[in-house]
Amino acid sequence: MKAPVVGSPPVVGHSIQFNYDALALIQRLQESKGDVFQLNILNEDVLLFLTPSATKQIFLDPDDNFSSKHGWEFSIGPTFENGLMLRDFDDHKYHRSLLQNSFRRDALDKYIHIIQPRIDSWIEEVKQKREFYLYKSIKQLMFNVAVELFFDEVDDTKLNHLNQLFINSIKPATTIVRSPYPMTRMKKGLKARVELLEYFQEKSDKIDLSKETLFADLVKTNNEEAGLTNFEIAEHMIFLLLAAHDTTTSTLTSSIHFLAGDEKYQNKVKTESSTLSKTDISDLKNGIIGEALFNEAIRKYPPVPFSPRWVVRDAELDGYEIPKNTYIAAGPLVLHNDERYWEDPLAFNPERFEDPTITHEAYFPFAGGAHTCLGKFFASYLFKNVIYKLVDNFQVISTNEELKINPAPIPNPRKDVKIQVS
Ligand code: HEM
Repeated sequence: MKAPVVGSPPVVGHSIQFNYDALALIQRLQESKGDVFQLNILNEDVLLFLTPSATKQIFLDPDDNFSSKHGWEFSIGPTFENGLMLRDFDDHKYHRSLLQNSFRRDALDKYIHIIQPRIDSWIEEVKQKREFYLYKSIKQLMFNVAVELFFDEVDDTKLNHLNQLFINSIKPATTIVRSPYPMTRMKKGLKARVELLEYFQEKSDKIDLSKETLFADLVKTNNEEAGLTNFEIAEHMIFLLLAAHDTTTSTLTSSIHFLAGDEKYQNKVKTESSTLSKTDISDLKNGIIGEALFNEAIRKYPPVPFSPRWVVRDAELDGYEIPKNTYIAAGPLVLHNDERYWEDPLAFNPERFEDPTITHEAYFPFAGGAHTCLGKFFASYLFKNVIYKLVDNFQVISTNEELKINPAPIPNPRKDVKIQVS
């Protein structure tokens, strides 16, 4: 069977509408074309699959039919080349095994302790100001937490500069002009990549291996087993930083905004928090209400809303032909907001996740298979650590502003909102 093709304007295809509101666009097309159709994004034809069964197949990929490297290359490839998600099959397995060491349980335990001073000083700052711009403040916090954890970098001027380089290096992911002409996002992004790589290579030379940072862990593993160059290590590190901070930022943003508008749920989280240590991973693991909030935030606004793949050999999916050398994609964002699988999907309702024994067939926030998110446990512990500290430190967290989130390419607010605390 061949999938229907959606007609689109030349050159820009569906990119502009996609960047503006991907969920509305795809749901509208889905109504007329069904669960499988081809559209044009960033000058490429992409066959989108919107059923739980095809999504699972795409992620599990038992026959190695789908390349994540070439799938992601057309968006984040230019600036995050050779990051873990931009590697395939045996090569990917090998590099993942090197990084995996840094995500063991005891390592995560260590990390949660390392980041406490940074989170505590953020809480103090918020206490003094009594209000904060939600997205801006959380993004800065998550970036600083990640850089400190990964590299032990605590110089704020450097942190701000690095943060700006990251902002520049992620922008080419969605720009329609794909060549690095002067003044374009692509040109700026590539320049930022070079600067970031130089900074992290320099760090590799000077690294203090007695420090318990993620970077030191990776360098140690490398010295013992691998022999990667400083450049390769730097490439891993910039990808990891990207994967770690934008994802946790969007998750905390939507959750804090929800809590600010729901006093009852705020109290529920507060009650749970009073029984838990904020830094003991086994305890954080038991935080069911906190976990439900986390799960709901990544349902409604999955930080990776679509996952593209490149087909390396002729295959079939859900009865549709998929020829080699074409793009396909899974769309967790669309599945997570599909009323065939979720009751009232538009509502932000963490209660749907409070019974951890219930599984959801249309839920793929961390993808699956070989590329399953490596940081998913760390993300959940970090999330709960921040949320519990927030509710512990403030009697009231409130806002009177609505938060409108643009769900793709990475969920971010159309306009930042202010949160008041007392
Ligand atoms: C709420 C938070 C997060 C969500 C929802 C999330 C989601 C995802 C998803 C969906 C993928 C796979 C995409 C694909 O296969 O196309 C992925 C990959 C990855 N994530 Fe996360 N992520 C989160 C946080 C983190 C954090 C905090 C880290 C690191 C500290 C991290 C590290 C990674 C890495 C290294 C990969 C690549 C794995 C591979 O290719 O083998 N993530 N993430």
